[in-house]
Amino acid sequence: MNSIKVGLCGLGTVGSGVVHLLYHHQEKIMHDTGSAIEIKGVLVSDLSKVRAGVPDGIKLTDQREDILGDDSIDLIVEVMGGVEDAYQLIKGALQKGKHVVTANKDLMAVHGAELLAIANENMCDLRYEASVAGGIPIIRSLTDGLASDKIHKVVGILNGTTNYILTKMVDEGRSFEDVLKEAQELGFAEADPTSDVDGLDAARKVVLLATLAFSMPVELEDVSVKGIRNLSSRDIDYAEQLGYTLKLVGIAARDQERVELSVQPTFIANNHPLASVKNEYNAVYVYGDAVGETMFFGPGAGQLPTATAVVSDVMDVVKNIRLGVTGQSSFLPQYEKRLKPSDE
Ligand code: NAP
Ligand code: HSE
Repeated sequence: MNSIKVGLCGLGTVGSGVVHLLYHHQEKIMHDTGSAIEIKGVLVSDLSKVRAGVPDGIKLTDQREDILGDDSIDLIVEVMGGVEDAYQLIKGALQKGKHVVTANKDLMAVHGAELLAIANENMCDLRYEASVAGGIPIIRSLTDGLASDKIHKVVGILNGTTNYILTKMVDEGRSFEDVLKEAQELGFAEADPTSDVDGLDAARKVVLLATLAFSMPVELEDVSVKGIRNLSSRDIDYAEQLGYTLKLVGIAARDQERVELSVQPTFIANNHPLASVKNEYNAVYVYGDAVGETMFFGPGAGQLPTATAVVSDVMDVVKNIRLGVTGQSSFLPQYEKRLKPSDE
């Protein structure tokens, strides 16, 4: 059986989950793709770190060139996070004809269009399912299952860390700082958790969803963003007294002339399904002219849910390599012209 060689960049929460799945689900993955998948090398930033659960024979390096310069590597999995290093790595990989799977919304929200164009030129796949809503296959749903519809609104809880914090503050009366620390320990939060807490992580996901849902270029600056940092127990009590639950909600909506893009703490009526989305779970409503209303629900952060999305992308790329049809998943739609955000 042929073997596809992977360069794994990042061995933190998500990277370790990817290793776990590639080993523990090996037989199923091989059966479904018709190919073995071998981790040829792993890029980390600190070689002196003690790491549990790394299978024997996996070669660690802190030199990007060891991965990029290895001609036997077909596919790069980027789960390092950050923008600049990840951008250089992915661009370099695509220019060398290597396929890429990433979980990096920070990068894709800013450089996604450029990187997809480079992938397209080089007949490479660039997949990023894990970058929005962790284990929920929402990108595939927009680009595949709902592709024939005209989507006019996407609304959801898009950040696991803040939903975890709000859930524990409301249900257990715990302090913001205490629960944030726990969310970091559980691997839900970003390396810099201010992007979770201040709504920027959810805003990046709004950009990615709106771009795909509306087939339209959307920019991070177009999103009006407010996080949960300044919420107090009084806000939570007030919501409770009125029969509401506080959630951080992202919205992307469009009509013929305008788009509305926002992330903000929102009072949700207790009998609305979004009110019962707890802990690190996310939920996304997609409203289409033909399909009507659809709701997607699942774990929005965490090691194995996120790794599931990453490895499923890897499997799709491997199938495309075998069939000789790579490059098509990086197909760029002929975008509609950019509409003005509602507050411009
Ligand atoms: P993490 O636990 O902080 O792990 C990052 C890994 O990347 C570490 O192994 C680190 O090396 C390595 N790394 C970081 N910068 C590097 C650089 N410049 N060069 C080489 N190696 C570098 O992060 P994570 O939670 O796994 O998240 C990874 C990515 O997945 C991010 O883009 C994040 O937004 C995204 N994501 C995360 C989740 C989640 O639930 N955690 C969910 C969806 C998407 P060392 O180990 O040596 O420090
Ligand atoms: N920090 C992110 C969250 C990870 O909490 O939702 C998943 O994208």
